[in-house]
Amino acid sequence: TERTFIAVKPDGVQRALFPEVLRRFSQKGFKLVGIKLTFAKEELLREHYSDLQSKPFFPSLLSYMMSGPVLATVWEGKDVVKQGRALLGATNPLQSAPGTIRGDFALDMGRNIIHGSDSVESAEKEIALWFKKDELVSYKSEMYGWIYE
Ligand code: GTP
Ligand code: MG
Repeated sequence: TERTFIAVKPDGVQRALFPEVLRRFSQKGFKLVGIKLTFAKEELLREHYSDLQSKPFFPSLLSYMMSGPVLATVWEGKDVVKQGRALLGATNPLQSAPGTIRGDFALDMGRNIIHGSDSVESAEKEIALWFKKDELVSYKSEMYGWIYE
């Protein structure tokens, strides 16, 4: 089954938006298979955002992501990478539709409260980067029969 990496950024944790994020992903039908509250190390973030290294906002992105604890989560389910991005909304809050997490709770690109993997490949890379294998759990969800045809 497909998995994705979703992280509530330090502003989302401080603003107590993480229960809302957990609620939206759970109620959509996804299964939580990993969760931890952690301070991201600079080395990890450089790897996580390696494709953005040359951007002018990269230093401020790093300090933003290290400004407080991050709630790192892994979710499992059908098309969870694409569905997850849809739940998040566009990167720029000006373009993220009401009803999405960023559309409902964010105003600034540099304070957009949540991260989601943008492809199955980056999801695999990010999950391996943020979690050890034994930190992910495998279990049968009792909701599945009511969510999947
Ligand atoms: P993530 O889910 O966090 O990876 O966001 P994304 O995939 O929607 O966007 P992208 O990977 O391109 O950028 C990563 C993060 O860098 C964004 O979520 C923003 O927090 C930040 N960012 C991206 N572009 C800008 C920008 O132009 N200015 C600022 N200040 N921050 C930006
Ligand atoms: Mg991204």
